[in-house]
Amino acid sequence: MTRPVSGVRLTGWGAYAPSLVLTNADLEKMVDTDDEWITSRTGIKERRIAGPGETTASMAAVAARRAIATAGLDAQDIDLILVGTLTPDYPLPSSAALVKEALGNKKAAALDIAAACSGFVYGYGMAHAFLAAGLGKHALVVGSETMSRCTDFTDRSTCVLFGDGAGAVVLSATDEADSTLGIELTTDTSATYSIWIPGGAGARPATDATVAAREHYMRMKGGETFKLAVRKLSSTALRALEKAGMTLDDVDLVVPHQANERILEALCKQTNFPLDRVYVNIARYGNTSAASVPIALAEAVAEGRIKPGDRIVLVAFGAGGTAGAVALTWTADPADRFRADGIGPESVQILDSGLQPTNPFPPDLEWIRARQQTSSSKGDI
Ligand code: ACO
Repeated sequence: MTRPVSGVRLTGWGAYAPSLVLTNADLEKMVDTDDEWITSRTGIKERRIAGPGETTASMAAVAARRAIATAGLDAQDIDLILVGTLTPDYPLPSSAALVKEALGNKKAAALDIAAACSGFVYGYGMAHAFLAAGLGKHALVVGSETMSRCTDFTDRSTCVLFGDGAGAVVLSATDEADSTLGIELTTDTSATYSIWIPGGAGARPATDATVAAREHYMRMKGGETFKLAVRKLSSTALRALEKAGMTLDDVDLVVPHQANERILEALCKQTNFPLDRVYVNIARYGNTSAASVPIALAEAVAEGRIKPGDRIVLVAFGAGGTAGAVALTWTADPADRFRADGIGPESVQILDSGLQPTNPFPPDLEWIRARQQTSSSKGDI
């Protein structure tokens, strides 16, 4: 058994978002909604949609390559690959296994984490424990989602909320002090079926009836989820800070799950924390589930909102009542992100399944794709 190491540090980060943009004006043409309602209730203006050739694993691999390059590492250095996702490419194999193959890594243990929107933060906690126990030197933690593939674009109460994308970090064992100060992971079972996808797995395998009943799309009790999200985000963040011996006054920036800007406002009001110390990018991406925290983290660093020495809190809430928070000190050089320049979707190839190619692109959005092909694309993150 290897000896536990003294510290774990975040050494790499990266994100990727597909170039296809779905705006509130587009949704106005599809369901009975309008920009004013979506903006005032959620803060969302647009979201990204994975193209026909893109999947959770392919986007995860781009973000992963960027994070590994930012850390100054080679893919072979990675000992553990965790992919938080509720939209894996397949029930089997895991998307993490596909990412490992695409990276050309030969030694990592690879698995998916099914904790919905909290998947990335859960992954952070588990990778930290893995490294702290001395089981490896470098861990890759990814959050990646193709939410557009489980969104019912005829249901206005959910289809305005979600988007696609991926983000990743590399955690590394080091002889220096641990930069992770406190971690809290919890699951509140009071709202187990408040957000769920009824069909397609063991309890309700896919049949003509489950397809006809649209059971393969996400369903959500919005009001219930909203209240629980505010409660769990605040209690989980506060508990992580307590474990770190800190209070909210010590925090330079909170990087939260971007589910709804109104949730973040309610959170700030409840905890008396200033909104200008919360990173918010939901207007541009919507709720990208497990990808939202690492995408927000990468953007916050790129925008100069995070610098070495800053104390930050990553916090997420998701389906199943999962919630997680990590309090950490930022130790990496923000300029390291330029090491990932030039890495894009063309840098990764997901192993061909051998089945006839499928086009998983949502039929309801084909008209957006046709339009985008004739206009300039938004382009990545
Ligand atoms: N456009 C116009 N009207 C709408 C829309 C829409 N897109 N969606 C719902 N409405 C209507 C409803 O039908 C309802 O009309 P009615 O009063 O005539 O019945 C009215 O607006 C109010 O609906 P509510 O659901 O009460 O609206 P609310 O203000 O609660 O906002 C929302 C809904 C945005 C979904 C909010 O509840 C929310 O953000 N919930 C939390 C979501 C979340 O946190 N998810 C995180 C986890 S996701 C994961 O883990 C995968």
